[in-house]
Amino acid sequence: MADPKETPKPPYYAHIVGWGMGVPEKVMTNHDISAFVETTDEWIVARTGIRERRIASDSESTMTLGAKAALGALQMGSLHASLVDLIVCATSTPECIFPSTASLIQSEIGADNAGAFDLSAACSGFVYGLQMAAQSIRSGAIDTALVIGSETMSRVMDWTDRGTCILFGDGAGAVLLQRSEQPGGVLSAILRSEGKNAKHLGIPTFGSQDLDLHHEAINGHKMGKMYMDGQEVFKFATRVLSDGIKRAAADAGIKPSDINLIVPHQANMRIIDAAARQLGFDKSMFYTNLDRYGNTSAASIPLAMVEAEREGRIKKGDYIAFIGFGGGLTWAASIVQWTGAGAVPRKTGPMKQLELLQASAASSFRRIKRQYGSLFNRIRPEQGRIERLKRRMDKVEDGD
Ligand code: UT7
Repeated sequence: MADPKETPKPPYYAHIVGWGMGVPEKVMTNHDISAFVETTDEWIVARTGIRERRIASDSESTMTLGAKAALGALQMGSLHASLVDLIVCATSTPECIFPSTASLIQSEIGADNAGAFDLSAACSGFVYGLQMAAQSIRSGAIDTALVIGSETMSRVMDWTDRGTCILFGDGAGAVLLQRSEQPGGVLSAILRSEGKNAKHLGIPTFGSQDLDLHHEAINGHKMGKMYMDGQEVFKFATRVLSDGIKRAAADAGIKPSDINLIVPHQANMRIIDAAARQLGFDKSMFYTNLDRYGNTSAASIPLAMVEAEREGRIKKGDYIAFIGFGGGLTWAASIVQWTGAGAVPRKTGPMKQLELLQASAASSFRRIKRQYGSLFNRIRPEQGRIERLKRRMDKVEDGD
C-alpha cells in the first residue's frame, strides 16, 4: 500500500510490467465434440473459426489456472507476491460464491499484503478489472495490482446444447500493474452495460428469480448452466466492437490508425472480421488465438495478449487496444501503451523499502511453512514412535 507521507502528487500512470497465462493440458477438438452432439468440424470452423479448446482436469480449477497466470506475471515483473496491494479476478466461473477466487489465489501465491475480490462482468471482465486496478494506482491509493481473468467454462456448459458447448474453453491470463510517474500504461478505458438485453446470455444461480423448486428456470434454462441467444449476442458484438475501439482511442488522445495491435475478446472470427471491415483495417491488425482456445470469457483477452507478446506482435511503446463484450450485456474497451517487462521506476523511501523487505521475508517463511507443514506433521508422530522404541530397547538391554 502506498505510504501517504511518501506519496508524491499525481499524475501517476498504471503500467503493465508483467504478464502470464495458465491453460489446461487437455485439448478437446471439434471432432471430439461431434462424437456427443450433432455438429461437425466444418460447421464449427466455418461459423466461428474455432478448431479446439482446453478443458480443465479434475485437479484444475479457476483458482489453479488463475494462480499459475498470476505467478507468471509476478516472475515477468520481477516482483515478490508480498508486494502486491490488490488482486482483481474477473470470472464467471468462480470456485464459490464466496470466498472469492481472488482470495484463494491471494493465499496460493502468498500475496499476504493484498486485498482481493472477484469481478463479474462476463467476457468484458478483464477490461473492467484493468480499469478498476489502474484507477486505484493512478489515484495514488496503491502501488501494485494483479488483474486476472480466469475461467473453467467447461463446468458451466450444457454439453447437450450444440449452440453453446462448441464455443467455450478453459484458461487464465494475468497482468501485473505498477505505479510510475513515467507516462504510458493504461491510457483509457470505457465501460458500458446494456442491462435491458441481459436475457440473451446468462448462467442462473441460487438467487435467480425465475428458478423453480426443481432448479429448472421457468424459461427452460438450467441451474448453473450457460444459455445464450447466439444471434442476438452476435448482433450486439458487431455493433459495439468498432465503436468501442474508436471511443477508447479518442479518450487516449490517439487516432484509431495509431493503434499497433487490437486484442479483441476471442468469441468468433466472423465478429472480428466484421469489426475489421467497419474500421477499414486489415484483419492482421487483430490478434486471434480462438482457433486453439475457443472463447475463454474473461480470460480470452489476457490469454491472447500474452501469446501476441510471445510471438513478437507487441513492442515497447506500441498502442494496444483491448475490446471485450458479453454477458450483461456489457462491453469495455481500453488503450494501453506498452511498457515491457520489469519494474518501472517509482519513488520509494528507505523506510518503505525496509517494510517491504520484512513483508517479503515473512511471506516467504509462511509459504515454506504451508508447503512443508504437512511433512512436519507426518514426521512428528514418527519421531514419537522412534523415541518409544528406543525406550523399550533400553529396557530390554537393562534386563527389565
Ligand atoms: O462471449 C460471449 C459472446 N458470445 C458470442 O459472441 C457468440 C455470438 N454468436 C455466435 O457466435 C453465433 O451466433 C453462433 C456461432 C453461436 C451460431 O452461429 P449462427 O451463424 O448464428 O448460427 P444460427 O444460430 O443462426 O444457426 C444456423 C443453423 C441452425 O439450423 P437451421 O435452423 O438453419 O436448420 C442451427 O440449428 O445452424 C444450426 N446449428 C448448428 N449446426 C451444426 C447451430 N449450432 C450448430 C452446431 N453444429 N454446433
